[in-house]
Amino acid sequence: KIPLVMDVDTGTDDAIAIICALMSTEVLDIKAFTAVAGNVGVDLTSSNTLNIVDYLGFDIPVAVGAAKPLNKELHTAISHGRAGLGDVTVPKSIRSFYEKDAVDTIYEHAVAAQGELEIVAVGPLTNIAGAIIRYPDIIRLIKRITIMGGALRGGNMTPASEFNLYVDPDAGKIVFEAGIPLVMVGLDVTLKPQLPLAVVETVKRLDNKFANLAARIFDFMLRRCGQFGFDPPNVHDAIALASLIVPRLVTLNKYVMTVETEGTVTRGMTVADFNNVMGKEPNVSVAVDVDCNLFWDWMTGKFLSAERN
Ligand code: BDR
Ligand code: CA
Repeated sequence: KIPLVMDVDTGTDDAIAIICALMSTEVLDIKAFTAVAGNVGVDLTSSNTLNIVDYLGFDIPVAVGAAKPLNKELHTAISHGRAGLGDVTVPKSIRSFYEKDAVDTIYEHAVAAQGELEIVAVGPLTNIAGAIIRYPDIIRLIKRITIMGGALRGGNMTPASEFNLYVDPDAGKIVFEAGIPLVMVGLDVTLKPQLPLAVVETVKRLDNKFANLAARIFDFMLRRCGQFGFDPPNVHDAIALASLIVPRLVTLNKYVMTVETEGTVTRGMTVADFNNVMGKEPNVSVAVDVDCNLFWDWMTGKFLSAERN
């Protein structure tokens, strides 16, 4: 099994990613979830995560992480509602958060997994950068970080920057330049799979906890898109998680990449050195395409097998 720490800012699509991860424990050994401020404050991202994990019947530690970006003020998202899960409520867990903070939790599992730890990071990269700052030797201990964030081109916060990198570009720069093997599943790819109504209908017909919770989140996402006049919703974070489990879902190209920390329009932009102006070795495997049908089939299959178990 793949030893995994998932760093999240739960968030509706984070929640879908968490549900998919919890339906994949035949291949994933989820050591911990670590929460970071992003879509909403860290008090909410941590409690949303703990509530979901507990409600779905798992006893996996949830550690509280950074309450704000490394050097900048926190900028939260509007699209996930005030509490992060839209109008979806999950029973409040009576379990406590893990005794260690997110950074110590990540380090603990990096050491324990002896070079095999995978991290899927689907929020601002504050906790991961924090771990690199507090424990520089972690660089050689992590097998790979799969990041939902950034984009080869375009953005959703500015024309050039994606939310997770925009919120904490300083953390992004540290992580991108650390020398840890990175896979970037960026916005230009995660925008491609748009939630098909057929998937929603299938999930709604099922009667298990995973499907019931996902159906309520999908429902909120659809209503939110209608309200803002957007296309069918995206589930950005779930695609990053899925790419770890089913690598052929995405096409990867290697690029030299860095992160702009200060620009006005370009704050948080992930910059690819297409012409190798910097003369460096490629440091990031960037997803340049995703097989949308395979992704939705994979996800639907997870809900169907959860129904059978
Ligand atoms: C990213 O921003 C957040 O709002 C989502 O959860 C996702 O991680 C997409 O830009
Ligand atoms: Ca997220």
